[in-house]
Amino acid sequence: MRIDIITCLPRLLDSYFAHSILQRAQQAGHAEVVVHDLRDYTLDKHRRVDDYMFGGGAGMVMQIEPIARCIRALQAERTYDEVIYMTPDGQRLNQQTVNTFSLKQNLIILCGHYKGVDERIRERFITREVSIGDFVLSGGELPAAVLSDAIIRLIPGVLNDETSALTDSFQDDLLAPPVYTRPAEWEGMKVPDILLSGHEAKIDEWRYEQALARTRARRPDLLGE
Ligand code: ADE
Repeated sequence: MRIDIITCLPRLLDSYFAHSILQRAQQAGHAEVVVHDLRDYTLDKHRRVDDYMFGGGAGMVMQIEPIARCIRALQAERTYDEVIYMTPDGQRLNQQTVNTFSLKQNLIILCGHYKGVDERIRERFITREVSIGDFVLSGGELPAAVLSDAIIRLIPGVLNDETSALTDSFQDDLLAPPVYTRPAEWEGMKVPDILLSGHEAKIDEWRYEQALARTRARRPDLLGE
């Protein structure tokens, strides 16, 4: 999979993708993340990518031309499955959407800034608008990193234990059950006996019950309750 991220703050993202699982995924050839500096696509001698809002009002708007030039340059190279715009008024991200994106080949992610992009960019190029939650960040870079991370860790071979992504919270609309590691007893607090029993079927059953109880207590909405 290839993800092209368009941003006016490329260094913010470069450092994120140069670390941990995301770096290993790229080195192993599972994913390629390419960050594009929007300012490289402006013809303005001051490298400006924003302008005043028509109709007046506080805040700047990202200009059409640099974004259009960048997206078109990418689309001339390969076919993209989706052109995603990160914006607080997009569709709220959930695991199901992440799963769908993880099956794609090539994605463009556009990071919004200031008051956002000129509406005509959305109409002409954007195929999906994604929000990471009902709060407003100062730019789309962190949301783009959140989305890319959630997608890339699902690509087969990226996680060491391939089954572990399948047992994540939300993967069956259930939160994850509690987990424990050594020591088996700490300050009088014991790991549940069942987990030390070696009885795989019973352990699976216990985990399912715990996941269900936790979901019912914390996120009954996931169960439709
Ligand atoms: N840009 C600013 N806030 C955002 C959010 N919550 N989700 C996606 N993009 C954003």
